[in-house]
Amino acid sequence: MTEEATPRSEVAIGGGCPMGAFARRALLQGAAAGLAGAAGGAVLGDGTELTDAVGSGQVRGKSRVIPMHGSHQRGILTPPQQDAIFLSCDVTAADRAELTELFRTLTSRARFLTTGGRPPGVSASSAPSDNGILGPTVVSDGLTLTVGVGASLFDDRYGLSPRKPAQLVSMTPFLHDDLDPALSQGDLLIQICADHRDTTVHALIDILTHTKSAMKLRWRIDGQRNPERPVGVRRDWFGFKDGIANPDTTNSAQVKQWVWAQPKSGEPDWAAGGTYHVVRIVHFHIEAWQKVPVADQERIFGRRKASGAPMYAVGENASDLLDPIYTNDPQGLITPLNCHIRLANPQTPDTAATSTILRRSYDYDRSPNLPELDLGHAFVCFQRELNTYIAMQTRLEQEALVPYITPKGGGYFFALPGVRDEKDYYARGLLT
Ligand code: HEM
Repeated sequence: MTEEATPRSEVAIGGGCPMGAFARRALLQGAAAGLAGAAGGAVLGDGTELTDAVGSGQVRGKSRVIPMHGSHQRGILTPPQQDAIFLSCDVTAADRAELTELFRTLTSRARFLTTGGRPPGVSASSAPSDNGILGPTVVSDGLTLTVGVGASLFDDRYGLSPRKPAQLVSMTPFLHDDLDPALSQGDLLIQICADHRDTTVHALIDILTHTKSAMKLRWRIDGQRNPERPVGVRRDWFGFKDGIANPDTTNSAQVKQWVWAQPKSGEPDWAAGGTYHVVRIVHFHIEAWQKVPVADQERIFGRRKASGAPMYAVGENASDLLDPIYTNDPQGLITPLNCHIRLANPQTPDTAATSTILRRSYDYDRSPNLPELDLGHAFVCFQRELNTYIAMQTRLEQEALVPYITPKGGGYFFALPGVRDEKDYYARGLLT
């Protein structure tokens, strides 16, 4: 199995692109159907295993194992699971040896949690070795852990500054950001994704318990993937289909070009196979948005609200697989020049190098923050060059969506290359 691209059986995202560079969302339906139809104990084409999740002797359902080892981390090309926790941490390890130990511990916890199995037994008078949220046998449940490093880890604490990824910087505010320092930056980012909420919370508690001597929580954002309504692509809290246009994760050439850091490309040698990971916590002003007529909402995004189709397609059942086309619309009469999708990807020669990122966002709904709801986006994207994201986000400073969103936090990270086998551990190449 190659891990340069997601095999078809693992594909869940895609969409229309003018130059045909993006996957078709139809692949999603094929993947989902394949998964639903797989029998107990089945192994899908990419090595993803379906096992019976057994609780007190009874089969409760299927649990997916997404194998952790490989040249790239999982949770990047992996089709987004239902639930996610993004955990940003500050490292408190005293020195490089303790930092190495931290990465080794993270690796062994990730290996156990993503595989599943019986936690070690302890006597009845001792504290349990596992928090028990998943029952006596830990199920893998499609869990992936994706570990990244922030620019601050490369300060003078651990002697890592000569090894910093070439474009890794701390996130600085864009024009309309209102960044809360308590919700921003971090030495490490751990992205936890799984098929159910109990599995991500189980992993969160497990990881924090085993690493508390060497890192502490800085901020956290939890998200879910809304269902596809009525089909195809999930809707975000603004009611628009979100996630249509993305690179084709089954296409090795595309993921090589747009996602993975390549050897001898200006990045340190250890970084090949990793990728820049951006997380932004973006609050939605739902009340204000509700007052905007649908025709104007469509002109703000540049797509039809009901169907997700480009602006030139008017029928309610128009296909969202149609490609947005701007060549016959230089003045933006059909698709406004300052709408979201046209600024993100203007389809012009001078923006071609900075118009493709791999989006993998989640929707958040946090405790009520009266008088306004706190709904928003854990906006997530991966890209071979951080500068691609920065250029795109800079263009979006001019977008018509600005009054309806406020970015509150997040950060830039470099998702480490994969853990290759049983002997390997996260960040080995960086630390040795
Ligand atoms: C946080 C609020 C955001 C919302 C609600 C949002 C929503 C959407 C929606 C509804 C679409 C059209 C459907 C699709 O192709 O998926 C879209 C497309 C897109 N968005 Fe966003 N987005 C947000 C932030 C961002 C950010 C921060 C970026 C990058 C800096 C971004 C980059 C893109 C790109 C590249 C496309 C596809 C453009 C194309 O090729 O047609 N989005 N977004």
